[in-house]
Amino acid sequence: MKRRNFIRKTGLTGLGLSMIPASYSRSSIEEFIGTEMKPVCLTTWNFHQASKKAGELLDNKISALDAVEQGVRVEEKNIQNHTVGNGGAPDRDGFVTLDASIMGPDGDCGSVAFLQDIEHPVSVARKVMESTPHKMLVGKGAYNFAVNNGFKPKDLLSAESKKKWKNWLAHKNYKPIINIENHDTIGMLCLDQKGDLAGACTTSGLAYKMHGRVGDSPIIGSGLFVDNEVGGAVATGLGEEIMKNVSSFLIVELMRQGKSPQESCEIAMNRLISKNPNYKDFQVAFLALNKKGEVGSFCIHQGFTYMKYGNSVNENFTSKSLLKN
Ligand code: GLY
Repeated sequence: MKRRNFIRKTGLTGLGLSMIPASYSRSSIEEFIGTEMKPVCLTTWNFHQASKKAGELLDNKISALDAVEQGVRVEEKNIQNHTVGNGGAPDRDGFVTLDASIMGPDGDCGSVAFLQDIEHPVSVARKVMESTPHKMLVGKGAYNFAVNNGFKPKDLLSAESKKKWKNWLAHKNYKPIINIENHDTIGMLCLDQKGDLAGACTTSGLAYKMHGRVGDSPIIGSGLFVDNEVGGAVATGLGEEIMKNVSSFLIVELMRQGKSPQESCEIAMNRLISKNPNYKDFQVAFLALNKKGEVGSFCIHQGFTYMKYGNSVNENFTSKSLLKN
């Protein structure tokens, strides 16, 4: 949405543009005056094709639950993306192992972890939610469940990811590069035309992790949480830190207490860094959406961006960060 349209849409012409400092970025303007919007789709990082896919589905009155699943599948399929699904970076033993979760407006959820050779873990997670008495399946059990339900096995280790892994084997240093190897997840939150919320999150996890390592993304409350009465939150970055603080659940609970999505992300980040004095060594980022379509985001290091699709416009915004590095 153009700034002028944004002002018009939110009915703020009477306030006068002079109230909004000219130097404010788009995201700052939204924080300054707030925004109510529906439908809306938020996506971590610059995953513009996934955001567009989900946003256009929402414009066509598709449910938030279907939109988040179809949206994140775009990046699961994208072999150029080395942090999600097909083409994802392998673990240190050369295996691509995937984690994903999904949560709908009725409070139900499903997830898979340590899943191999299946391109669309988010759809397996949805199947777990809808067709089993369970909420989470892992490893071989998740794989067998997927294959028994018609998902086709596929080798997900791309030639490029394999080459990078072989180069890594030469030194085996494990210090993920912030915003590159230390960024990973596509997390998506959608508010549909009926006003219902859903979220999804899918990742190949940290590059060159230990075999068997599972991150925050499939852990409901850590990488993803949605409460249709309040809002939703997703997290990206170093999963171990996010899991220790159950950050997405915390953000939603803060919104329940009346905090804005922005305040909630910042309070949750303060909680997280207060528990680890080494917070400058890793990246964590949060993205939140409330029932009114208001947005919040916060990260440790500069460099985290997010997509927002609303009013049929698909745009990338820079998140506020704790460190100004
Ligand atoms: N945030 C995703 C992971 O740590 O695996």
